[in-house]
Amino acid sequence: MTTRIIGTGSYVPEHIVTNDDLSKIVETSDDWIRSRSGIGERRIATDDRTSDMAAAAAARAIEQAGISPEEIDLILLATSSPDYCFPNGACEVQEKTGAVNAACYDISAACTGFVFALNTAHAFIRAGIYKTALVIGADVLSKLIDWTDRSTCVLFGDGAGAVVVRADETGVLGLNMHSNGQKGNVLTCGARSNGNFLLGKKPELGYMTMEGQEVFKFAVKKVPECIIQVLEETGTDKDDIDYYVIHQANYRIIESIAKRMKVSMDRFPANMEHYGNTSGASVPLLLDELNRSGKLKRGDKIILAGFGAGLTWGAALIEW
Ligand code: ACO
Repeated sequence: MTTRIIGTGSYVPEHIVTNDDLSKIVETSDDWIRSRSGIGERRIATDDRTSDMAAAAAARAIEQAGISPEEIDLILLATSSPDYCFPNGACEVQEKTGAVNAACYDISAACTGFVFALNTAHAFIRAGIYKTALVIGADVLSKLIDWTDRSTCVLFGDGAGAVVVRADETGVLGLNMHSNGQKGNVLTCGARSNGNFLLGKKPELGYMTMEGQEVFKFAVKKVPECIIQVLEETGTDKDDIDYYVIHQANYRIIESIAKRMKVSMDRFPANMEHYGNTSGASVPLLLDELNRSGKLKRGDKIILAGFGAGLTWGAALIEW
């Protein structure tokens, strides 16, 4: 018994911010951003909160799966930007979707969060504990960005993607998850002060910091490694993979991964041009786009792979 994706959904806020818009607030240009990252524009949440976007994506996935919300046993929300410390965002999604029978919690693994959450749902399903789960990646990173820092603010956008998974004969064929806390300092975001206000420490708001080149080197080394690991463990040839759905941080990272793996870029779909890096949302957002455009056929083999802060990275091989 394994875990099959039976419905996908996504949601992005309406408000579009182009590279030219950003060049009015920091010293940058459309040419610099496009050539270094492949990003042309991003969606920025004005009114939507993380849980609103997550619930909208989830509702579309539930509708496509053709199930009733009451059938969902588990909701996992991968996010680094929940609306509250508590209640968790998954509980908010439960409230908005009517999935009254689900156990709900969030998973924090930054841009790898969706892959980690899918793995967690798979573990419950494989163990026979749950039958149906809703797995969501959603982030409003625009809340966590220092909009005066041109080295980070041009890269990110807001959005959500979701899948409904169910116990089935085929689906997830293999997956892995990895972490390296020793390198956590290369990509950080302090949420609130670590000091205790009672003891006279001033609360501080933290924003994202990133050593871009370190993250780049990490991604182009570790992502091919974890993909090859899952291919080897399942006895699958890299050329039998129909699509490599990789976290959409940077087009040059995807090109390097394809080159290292000696796989044509045709197998690496990309949408960061329109959405930027949507963190936990990026993998399910792209998967939903492929699914709704009719590109996925029953039996297709798809790699899902993420990498991000922690550091964390991981890959899943699924049969559609
Ligand atoms: N516009 C114009 N110039 C800029 C900008 C900008 N937005 N940002 C930086 N620069 C300047 C720098 O100040 C530097 O100028 P200097 O040479 O005068 O000092 C110059 O451009 C080159 O800067 P680098 O950082 O060396 O540029 P690089 O080629 O490494 O590209 C980038 C930067 C795009 C961030 C790249 O390192 C990268 O993609 N790294 C991976 C980042 C990533 O993927 N992060 C997210 C993954 S994890 C997650 O998703 C949370």
